[in-house]
Amino acid sequence: MKKVLKTVLYVILALIVAALSFAAYIYFKGIPSYDPPQIKEFTIRPTQEKIDEGARISALICSSCHMGKDGRLSGGLMKDLDPIFGTAYIANITNHPVYGIGKWSSSELAYFLRTGLRANGRYAPPWMPKFIHLSDNDLESVICFLKSDSPLVQASEIAHPASQPSFFAKFLGNTAFKPLKYPSSEIIAPDTSDAVNYGKYIAHGKVECFTCHSADFAKMNIEFPEKSLGYMGGGNTLINLEKKKIFSANITMDAETGIGTWSYEDFYKALKEGKRPDGKALRYPMLPLGNLKDFEIKGLWAYLQTVPKIKNPVNRTWE
Ligand code: HEC
Ligand code: HEC
Repeated sequence: MKKVLKTVLYVILALIVAALSFAAYIYFKGIPSYDPPQIKEFTIRPTQEKIDEGARISALICSSCHMGKDGRLSGGLMKDLDPIFGTAYIANITNHPVYGIGKWSSSELAYFLRTGLRANGRYAPPWMPKFIHLSDNDLESVICFLKSDSPLVQASEIAHPASQPSFFAKFLGNTAFKPLKYPSSEIIAPDTSDAVNYGKYIAHGKVECFTCHSADFAKMNIEFPEKSLGYMGGGNTLINLEKKKIFSANITMDAETGIGTWSYEDFYKALKEGKRPDGKALRYPMLPLGNLKDFEIKGLWAYLQTVPKIKNPVNRTWE
């Protein structure tokens, strides 16, 4: 009997030691780096038109995070990161050669924006979104803008301390978070006259509405967005700038719990001005997307009509 007890005790001890060593391994390893990737060639041919379009796309999908206190894309503390992931600093992406991305080539930028891997193999966790469905043309415009002489990206000397990922973030970094695959062929956006498919392109590639508007970031499918749990049915937990929880809205056409009773004009106003039909202002992080173009909003509206309705009453308490 004593012998059995002793063996059990040794097994338990061995398990504890194994668990502790694994924890220590994760703790000290942090969010892992990878072998430097084979960067694919991505050529840009800047024109003023592309720079302007890149600036518009950046205002839609980059500046909400990267806008710094000097009015340039110099980054700062990420105030809306869920504290369970620790603290993170948003990078300075102005053209400063040391503190910014002044030395990055267009190909390195394209590779990073698609996969999350830097040229040296350092990986950016999911709080820097990845743009695997963005068309090559739109990506080119964004990079033309980043490399332009726009005041928004002029070299800023703002430097940030290293991010402090929590143990949980490090754990996920070693298990769940993985760099995305670089697309194997050119990505071409649908024709803008094809409203439904163009709207889908915006919802998946250009503004990535599906990420926030599905049920759970952890059950999101970046590669096949429609396979995300509760696709467009809302309820995903987001954090506002005061670190309070806010839930994304159900934007399927369910009449009771989604936006099925809204008119196109209601939708237009919600996106452009951040106002609901009942007059309430939409709250952070649903920022007004003022520079969406009319054909983009029309496309989104047309596409949302085709998305399967989900009955999901989201807790939307207004103070
Ligand atoms: C939700 C917030 C968020 C959005 C939106 C966002 N970023 Fe980032 N970005 C981050 C964070 C956080 C980091 C730092 C990641 C890390 O620590 O590895 C980062 C890092 C980067 C880097 C790496 C810079 C370096 O020096 O390592 C580049 C380049 C970049 N972002 C460009 C963009 C562009 C271009 C867009 C829009 C197309 C964009 N980001 C949208 C949060 C964001
Ligand atoms: C960063 C996360 C995020 C992204 C990206 C995002 N949304 Fe939202 N959205 C939210 C949140 C959170 C709310 C709820 C805001 C509130 O309750 O005040 C919301 C609310 C809405 C509403 C209001 C619905 C209602 O019933 O009040 C509409 C419409 C909407 N979003 C459409 C979109 C579309 C279309 C896109 C893409 C072009 C998009 N959103 C991208 C987070 C996001």
